[in-house]
Amino acid sequence: MKSDKRIEVGKATNLHFSKGANGAVPHVSPAVGVASASRVPTEHRASGGPSPRAPWAAAAIAVLVLAALVAAFGYWFFWRPIQVSVNGKTEQVAIGQKLGPYLKKLDYAGAQPGRLLSLSGGVVREDGGKRATVRVNGKQVAFEEWDGREIAEGDAIEVENGEDVTEKHTEEVVSMAPALVREGTGSIQYVSQWGAAGKKKVWHGKESGETIDKEVVEEPKNMVVSSRTPHPSDGKKYMALTFDDGPSSYTKDILRILGEKGVPATFFNLGNQASSHAEEEKALLKDKHELASHTNNHKNLPTCDRETLRAEINDAADAIEKASGTRPQMIRAPYGAFGDAEWARAGDLISCNVLWNIDTLDWKRPGAAAIVNAVTSHAFNGAIALMHDGGGNRQQDIEALPQIIDELQARGYQLVTVAELMRLDGGFPQDVVEGTVKMPEDAVLPEM
Ligand code: NI
Repeated sequence: MKSDKRIEVGKATNLHFSKGANGAVPHVSPAVGVASASRVPTEHRASGGPSPRAPWAAAAIAVLVLAALVAAFGYWFFWRPIQVSVNGKTEQVAIGQKLGPYLKKLDYAGAQPGRLLSLSGGVVREDGGKRATVRVNGKQVAFEEWDGREIAEGDAIEVENGEDVTEKHTEEVVSMAPALVREGTGSIQYVSQWGAAGKKKVWHGKESGETIDKEVVEEPKNMVVSSRTPHPSDGKKYMALTFDDGPSSYTKDILRILGEKGVPATFFNLGNQASSHAEEEKALLKDKHELASHTNNHKNLPTCDRETLRAEINDAADAIEKASGTRPQMIRAPYGAFGDAEWARAGDLISCNVLWNIDTLDWKRPGAAAIVNAVTSHAFNGAIALMHDGGGNRQQDIEALPQIIDELQARGYQLVTVAELMRLDGGFPQDVVEGTVKMPEDAVLPEM
């Protein structure tokens, strides 16, 4: 601008530039008067005079000025340090600095990172949670926003320990097995309600691999096993005599006595015994006795795994069916031991598990009189007495049996099969009484 002025001045005084080999040299026109001519050189001297390099210098200065302006602009907007406070302490931060990198540089002001937790609350990684909790001017800034957030002059930054984070998960709806519920007490156990599957939401932890139950979508229906002692209520008195562990070489004598007395009994036979005594099996049925299962090998069922348990029941039914032509559903578990797990694993294979009200303890061979007394002294309407026609020497049973029958009949008892006791009671399901139980297609066993 200064040089423009100078040129203006030159014009007013007829000053002009002539270009020579040595550059532009000012000349004073001869027509110019002395008064004005004497002022012009003074002006030139005062401004240092227009150098021959003036246009270059002007351009260079312009560039420098521009560069300075750009630098000043850049400094102001991009590099100028600004003041912020971090946990109450004043800090210098380059303007434009983003919060994320700045926090990292500060090593998060000593804040402890949160932990990564599994779905059940276990620690997957000590430092796997949120790195820190950060508030700017009192307002929390989410971790995801740290890198995009520019720090502004005067920001009050507070950095605290990070928070625990629970691992990511996937969700699945899975089937829920029913529970097993017991109801009542008594000598005969049977399924009074079949179970049905429910639905629940489960979460699978992506890091820990844990699966946790989240929500029940549909409650399962319990499987209910009822226990009940039959109580015939037609005004008469009934009892059932039962024989375990046969058939054996003693069975014929037992059958003969029962035949002579004209009374039926219930036989809980072992599958492996039935295979070797097919004749007794057939005779037993011919005489209208009740043929039931005592399992195949007399194992203590609660000690068996699911597969063995089911085989003990199925193999016995196969063997007895093969020997007699009848497939029994009624069982008496060895030692009576048929608990929740057995019902859950094999409840679909049987109609009922028959215990007893009177234990003769005949296997101890206490003498025929003791066996007779055990039954007759504990007799009641609906009672089931336990005896044996196999598993050892049964001579005492053979001796006791006619006396037991005579004594009970003398007291007004009518001896019937277990199924008949149930029928006379009137409260047992028809398919349990008849031994034709079939678990419904949509029913589900508990998982035990
Ligand atoms: Ni037994």
